Amino acid sequence: MFGEATNDHADEPKTIIETAFSGARDARHRSFSVYDGENMDRQSPQVRASSGLQSRKEPMSTYSLPDLSYGYNTLEPFIDARTMELHHIQHHRRYIDQLNAALGTIGSLPWVGEPSIEDVLWNIGKISEDSRNAVRNYGGGHANHSLYWTILSKDGGGKPSGRLAAAITEEFGSFSAFRERFSRVANAHLGSGWAWLVRARDRLVVYSLPNEDSPLTAEEVPILGLDLWEHAYYLRYPASRADYVEAFWNVVNWAEVSRRFEEAKRHRAGHGTAFTLDTATLDTATSTP
Ligand SMILES: [Fe+2]
Repeated sequence: MFGEATNDHADEPKTIIETAFSGARDARHRSFSVYDGENMDRQSPQVRASSGLQSRKEPMSTYSLPDLSYGYNTLEPFIDARTMELHHIQHHRRYIDQLNAALGTIGSLPWVGEPSIEDVLWNIGKISEDSRNAVRNYGGGHANHSLYWTILSKDGGGKPSGRLAAAITEEFGSFSAFRERFSRVANAHLGSGWAWLVRARDRLVVYSLPNEDSPLTAEEVPILGLDLWEHAYYLRYPASRADYVEAFWNVVNWAEVSRRFEEAKRHRAGHGTAFTLDTATLDTATSTP
């Protein structure tokens, strides 16, 4: 079972671990396993099979709802307590439940170790086609909301500083120009989805994606995200997404966004992330009709 530390992992190839994505406070799912190709190459599938992780017949371990580091009423009046509570314990939890259920239907998974949901999304193409959409939707919902909670703060607002501020100015001309563009993209998005600021191949890019699609599935690293689903704002801002978007800027935790920006830079320098693929089970998974 991934997500559970057991002695079965003793023979697992050692990988470089760094915390790149820490939206979820559940440490089991914060690890960021960088593929150590050298060690991996030295270890045959047979050796890996001896670790007991070659094929998982038992039910999957589960992803779990991360705690918030603040109270539901903390972001008042910009985001109301009832919305935060429902959003966290109902909407986010539902995505996790659906993700866990979807993973439980997959006979064998193309990874070993304990991948974070971010790692899984980054490698979405390696998941069998018949399971990919469920992981994309529900895993995306889990990852997106895990990020969202962390980039909000009662002490937020204002502007970023340091290298992030410089990068925003370089890319968009000024912070106000960036903010205007992000807001315009968020307000123009039709239906449910998210507005994103991502680091993509050494550039900062603003765009929106539908539903719970994550930039990670395109190998781009989200550093700021705004939930555009009505459940994120309808109680306080009925039928007025623009008011919600405007309020959002008062609670953006730029310290966390900056941290994610720096992690994304290292992430690219490290040639991306990959959970340690189990190629033997990958063949099985991808051939499932
Ligand atoms: Fe949401």
